[in-house]
Amino acid sequence: MSALFEPLAIGAIAAPHRVLMAPLTRQRAAQPGDLPTDLMRDYYVQRAGAGLIVSEGTQISPEAKGYAGTPGLHSDEQVVAWRRITDAVHEAGGRIAAQLWHTGRVSHPSLHDGALPVSASAVAHDGRTSLFDGDGAVVRVDCPTPRALATDELPRLVEDFAHATRQARAAGFDGVEIHAAHGYLLHQFLSPVSNRRTDGYGATTTGRVRLPLEVVDAVVDAWDPGHVGIRISPLGAFHGLTDDEGAETGLHLAAELALRGLAFLHLSEPDWAGGAALDDDFREKLRTAFPGVIVGAGNYDRPKAEQMLDRGYVDAVAFGRAYIANPDLPERLRHGWPLNDLDKPTVYGGGPAGYTDYPAYAVD
Ligand code: FNR
Repeated sequence: MSALFEPLAIGAIAAPHRVLMAPLTRQRAAQPGDLPTDLMRDYYVQRAGAGLIVSEGTQISPEAKGYAGTPGLHSDEQVVAWRRITDAVHEAGGRIAAQLWHTGRVSHPSLHDGALPVSASAVAHDGRTSLFDGDGAVVRVDCPTPRALATDELPRLVEDFAHATRQARAAGFDGVEIHAAHGYLLHQFLSPVSNRRTDGYGATTTGRVRLPLEVVDAVVDAWDPGHVGIRISPLGAFHGLTDDEGAETGLHLAAELALRGLAFLHLSEPDWAGGAALDDDFREKLRTAFPGVIVGAGNYDRPKAEQMLDRGYVDAVAFGRAYIANPDLPERLRHGWPLNDLDKPTVYGGGPAGYTDYPAYAVD
């Protein structure tokens, strides 16, 4: 049997196989309130066959929001709405973790009553985020120079992650994944490109990993390490963050995470987004730094997944775009059935089209 279909203990989560659903922002939460909807429930239930679903990025506080139409996990109304989804996924036999997200400087004042987005330092992301126009169509807007978080604000930020973790437990999730990848807030602290701080939360590798590790410790305190994972993208170019020290910082962080016994380390690999494929040297060093469960993601198909599993570089694989288009992806991979193509225009925002209408494979 393929290693891809062997069960795996992901911390406290018993996954029946190793085909996971990657976190995927789809911008279909209800407004006002950034509330999960019944349509989102149907979408996740269709994908309950995943070894583990990692939810779309979900903001930990109003300040954390960076895109129109993304859901939150800070208000009690959001907990009630997510509970309907987690209950339905469990009834369908699945497991779902919440991805805890703060977008930092990848955001826009119109999402914050005119206030500037926050970041490690007042360094602009030379790029854009996505809002909706009056008709609900996606429009791309420039991100402004953010406001640097003051040192005495950081405990409040850490508490926002802990609060969202308690909310995730109350909402019936099976665990949480801290989003420290893709150029969002925690990555903005990790990278010297966006972190120019001189207050002990920057300047050196130890300084730059300090806030992300304080967040990890607070989230673990709010639950336990067996229910906590983290996503990182130390190499590549995501939202303006490419840095020469990415490998060193990532490996330093991974070793610290190993000491904390986290359920999993989710490695977002860069080649799906135009970066160079990871080399064996980095994969081996990461494996050594973090002996626990490593989830690989980015440009995987079944042969690559099996190769990386066989070499011991990853323990499970998360699929993104293929999971958007194939609600029954594990079964398709298991049997070698063909995959549906992704319909790009319906990825972000909108309704059921391109969301809940991708068919499962019809067996004759
Ligand atoms: C993503 N990705 C992503 N990553 C993340 O950590 N949080 C998120 O909310 C999202 N949202 C998102 C939306 C869409 C439409 C895409 C295509 C991607 C990245 C995703 O989890 C995954 O790493 C990539 O899609 C690469 O994997 P595939 O698509 O090559 O399997």
